[in-house]
Amino acid sequence: MYFAVISIFPEMFAAIRDFGITARACSEGKVTIECINPRDYTSDNYRRIDERPYGGGPGMVMMAEPLAKAIEDAKERAKAHGCRIEVAHCPVVYLSPQGRQLDEASVVQMSDYDGMILLCGRYEGIDERLLSQYVDAEVSIGDYVLTGGELPAMVLMDSVIRRLPEVMGDAQSAEQDSFVDGLLDCPHYTKPYVFADMAVPEVLLSGHHANIAKWRFVEQAKRTKVRRPDLWQAFKPSKAQVKWLQQANIDDKTS
Ligand code: ADE
Repeated sequence: MYFAVISIFPEMFAAIRDFGITARACSEGKVTIECINPRDYTSDNYRRIDERPYGGGPGMVMMAEPLAKAIEDAKERAKAHGCRIEVAHCPVVYLSPQGRQLDEASVVQMSDYDGMILLCGRYEGIDERLLSQYVDAEVSIGDYVLTGGELPAMVLMDSVIRRLPEVMGDAQSAEQDSFVDGLLDCPHYTKPYVFADMAVPEVLLSGHHANIAKWRFVEQAKRTKVRRPDLWQAFKPSKAQVKWLQQANIDDKTS
């Protein structure tokens, strides 16, 4: 999958390109991340990309022209990497608190794209005419304001890259994540058997796979019900899961 990131701080993306699973995906050629600096598309000596806002007020606004040129170049590069340049295959996404909030369902959809062009804003924002002309979608990572779109772009790329086939070491582990089935994750344990006077739950040592699966599901349900009642309300248990919930005395919302 191809990512072009438009940012005035390209060095920040070492965090995703140089470490962990995302770095391996890059070095194995499964993912390409290219950074494009809008300052390279300015025509003045100061390489200026921001200006004061019309109408007054605090802060600066990123100018449309250098960003438009950067996006055009990003599209050419995406094409050269084999992306089909249409919204359905390689959208231009602006990271912004005004966007639709990122969730696992949209991450899974994004993992089907050929590529993405991610636009990172700084200052007060970007000239609205650039957004209306060039941006296909706005994505937020939550209801709080950061100093720029770089961290949100990395959050998006990290979450999408780990959903790509063959990127995760254990093919099953992405499938077993929190949210994939609409529930939070179950607790995990490893050695030693006892830590801080707490032993590992016996069932996990039993080798009985069906009982372990059932225990894990019940733990997921308990956590989700307490910590995320919104997810719990939306959760649709299977027939077997309804039975497990009843056996564990957890209301399955059907009664
Ligand atoms: N830029 C600044 N804050 C942001 C947020 N919460 N999500 C996405 N982009 C942002």
